Amino acid sequence: GLMNRLHDANVVSEQLASVLGISRVIIVPGNSEHHHSILDLMGQQLNELLAAILPGGRSIIAVMGGTTMASVSESLSVNLSHERNLLFVPARGGLGETMAIQANTVCAEMATHSGGRYRNLYVPEDISTKSVEPLLQEPVVKSVLDLINHADVVIHSIGRAKTMANRRNMPTAEVNLLAERQAVAEAFGDFLDAQGHVVYKVPKIGLQISDLNDISHVIAIAGGPQKAAAIESYMKVAPHQTVLITDEAASEMILRDK
Ligand code: BG6
Repeated sequence: GLMNRLHDANVVSEQLASVLGISRVIIVPGNSEHHHSILDLMGQQLNELLAAILPGGRSIIAVMGGTTMASVSESLSVNLSHERNLLFVPARGGLGETMAIQANTVCAEMATHSGGRYRNLYVPEDISTKSVEPLLQEPVVKSVLDLINHADVVIHSIGRAKTMANRRNMPTAEVNLLAERQAVAEAFGDFLDAQGHVVYKVPKIGLQISDLNDISHVIAIAGGPQKAAAIESYMKVAPHQTVLITDEAASEMILRDK
């Protein structure tokens, strides 16, 4: 019956959380690679999770970009702002990606849907270290970086190394280096191998994986069986308080050989 199925689903989530070494996993039924509606379910879970964990008053929520983040942003509801003052900021500066999936855009979308406010970070992706230094002193950049550093919640996705390298138009030499070093995952601009070792870093400003330890709530959202290896790899370095929202198809793939 239904009670049994709910019980089984809980057992699987707990098993996956323990395999990945994180505090909690939320699994929605289905495969998000096949049906966009599964991403909506993941978005609804995000909305519920935020409603449960956000205290009253002000919270700073730092978000990453990508297609998953852009999609789940649509499921946030205005109820989240009831007796709360939400401020969304991009977790990392400038990504060389299509406007629609940039962290700045996700941030604005999440704010719009949840009735919160947002600030954007205006730093191009392919800026040299020499040019970024003075930019960091600019009040408009500095004030947003200060907010990012005080984030209460971080929401991000996890990408497959190859997909992310192609999407960001990385030069051939770098793509070859990633292949040689067997990169499987990308998160926060870091490319990781199956053991979770950083094999390549895209220089950026803002949050790094190591900064996440100090942040109360870290939410990772990634689904689809093709992302299974990337999820496993990233979770080797993820902070323990991470809550993963994923789908059944990714979950089964990860647990298959366990
Ligand atoms: C990028 C983020 O924008 O999206 C990455 O910067 C993330 O950290 C990636 O891994 C995931 O993208 P998608 O499209 O698979 O959700």
